Amino acid sequence: MPRTDPSNLLVLGVESSCDETAVALVRGGRKVVGSLVASQVDVHAKFGGVVPEIAAREHLRILRPLFDQLLEETQHTVDDIDVIAVSQGPGLVGALLVGASFAKGLACASNRPLVPVDHVHAHIHGALLGAENDEVDIYPLLALVVSGGHTNLYYMKSPVHFELLAHTLDDACGECFDKVAKIMGLPYPGGPHIERLARGGRPEKVTMPRMVERKAQMAFSYSGLKTHMAQLLQKSPKPLDGEFVADACAAFQREALGQIVRKLESAYTSRPDAKKILVAGGVAANQYFKELVGRHLRLPVVFPPLAYCSDNAAMIAACGWHQYVSAPPASEKDCHLWDVYSRYKFEDYLCKG
Ligand code: KG4
Ligand code: ZN
Repeated sequence: MPRTDPSNLLVLGVESSCDETAVALVRGGRKVVGSLVASQVDVHAKFGGVVPEIAAREHLRILRPLFDQLLEETQHTVDDIDVIAVSQGPGLVGALLVGASFAKGLACASNRPLVPVDHVHAHIHGALLGAENDEVDIYPLLALVVSGGHTNLYYMKSPVHFELLAHTLDDACGECFDKVAKIMGLPYPGGPHIERLARGGRPEKVTMPRMVERKAQMAFSYSGLKTHMAQLLQKSPKPLDGEFVADACAAFQREALGQIVRKLESAYTSRPDAKKILVAGGVAANQYFKELVGRHLRLPVVFPPLAYCSDNAAMIAACGWHQYVSAPPASEKDCHLWDVYSRYKFEDYLCKG
């Protein structure tokens, strides 16, 4: 039978929403016992992007042996697991089904509760893995997930309350950095390269469109910036002048990240009880972004260690732990009848292009 002391609960996390197959064991919502991530980057590289059908097949091939490896490396057995949490979206449908079917099968066979977890919510809890007790006294919180796939801003009254304040109308922020870098012939992921090139650049020298300028409009937008950069680079004399590239990258970066700071300011105005801001996701690695946030925002900002910022299963387990502890299923029967997908509108989780 599962333990009842929440701080001792061992949660298995399963992640298969895109091109990372991942499993992890997390105790008490924050202590990572073991975490394995198998990246499919090499498999998809020759296609220039993730191929959904191939991703699903790779998850199917890798997931079971990866789980066995996790148990072996952490010296645990299935019996030690109290709760099973699985990423239920957003993501690639076929890929998600592999993780969900595996988790559901394991839950039924081992008589353990199954907790479906929102992948983007989980990124926020991933940022708090390993944190001390005093470091999680952060609610009400403004939480930003800014990565290659997501640009979401939430107001959180508690670890399980997510009010979506703003999301992107088109591309994600990191995706935009990657696309602009690709246009410039820079390797993937492009964010760090653009940041490097922007150093020493003069943003005021190159005009950039200001996106979603109206304060009241709580949204982000990136496709216009990408198009503007593409046209700017196409029109410029070749070979591109180094100083011009630095200025253009600095101007692009200033608007790409500046719009996030503007929306954070608006969010704080409408939610003045927020105690802190937490920034999760790969773009949080950007030093200029850290400076900008520090310069413009009055709230303390938590930039988590990067270890669990990109896709992993420890964040799924951590989020699942919070969900389970705050609202355990009413009965054992409930756990096993839980249909991972029935509680959500599936269309909301389809990947955009
Ligand atoms: O969270 P993450 O590792 O993965 C997922 O999106 O799942 O984020 C990766 C994204 C990429 O788009 C990458 O270009 C961006 O984060 N990124 C950056 C920087 N480092 C990584 N963007 C801007 N500046 C950076 N220094
Ligand atoms: Zn993600």
